[in-house]
Amino acid sequence: MNERDGAGNSFRELMGHFPSGLTIVTGLDKGAPTGFTCQSFFSVSLTPELVAFSVRKESATFPALRAGGRWAVNVLSAAQVRIGHAFGRPGDRFAGVAWRPGLRTDCPILDGSLAWMECVAHTEVAAGDHDIVISRVVNHGVGEGFPLLYFKGRYAHLDPVS
Ligand SMILES: Cc1cc2nc3c(=O)[nH]c(=O)nc-3n(C[C@H](O)[C@H](O)[C@H](O)COP(=O)(O)O)c2cc1C
Repeated sequence: MNERDGAGNSFRELMGHFPSGLTIVTGLDKGAPTGFTCQSFFSVSLTPELVAFSVRKESATFPALRAGGRWAVNVLSAAQVRIGHAFGRPGDRFAGVAWRPGLRTDCPILDGSLAWMECVAHTEVAAGDHDIVISRVVNHGVGEGFPLLYFKGRYAHLDPVS
């Protein structure tokens, strides 16, 4: 047990104790595929079908997606850990990554994703050093496999409770 009032125990470390899945938010920048690793994804509304994520105000990738008003969210499978790494750091993120354009938005749907959704912009809420981006799902699909998880700053696999 490690109880503190915040001092010394970083907020990042605190939040690391909340496990999540991982997504890659993808889109097009002047016709070229682009995207970033995103942990903060969550579902917002059933009717209409809304989802959200928070994005760093300093993100170099998201402004082009915002300008186009559309993006795709790819839920990573355990087999896609390399993609999770690659899209979370600078470099040619799409090198060796197979994808197809979504039918409704043209945004990249990554092969092997556990689930994917094409989204259009709905609302944005400024929140500290991030923006909360709410979008409407206009097309979606599911794949096969198990999820890639993120916990305490590390990638992890699902270990189902028996
Ligand atoms: C595991 C993981 C989770 C991340 N989650 C988010 C997130 O929820 N929101 C965000 O803006 N950036 C998140 N990032 C950071 C972005 O992936 C990172 O800012 C981006 O790759 C940097 O490039 P950009 O400037 O092109 O956005 C995450 C990175 C990693 C490795």
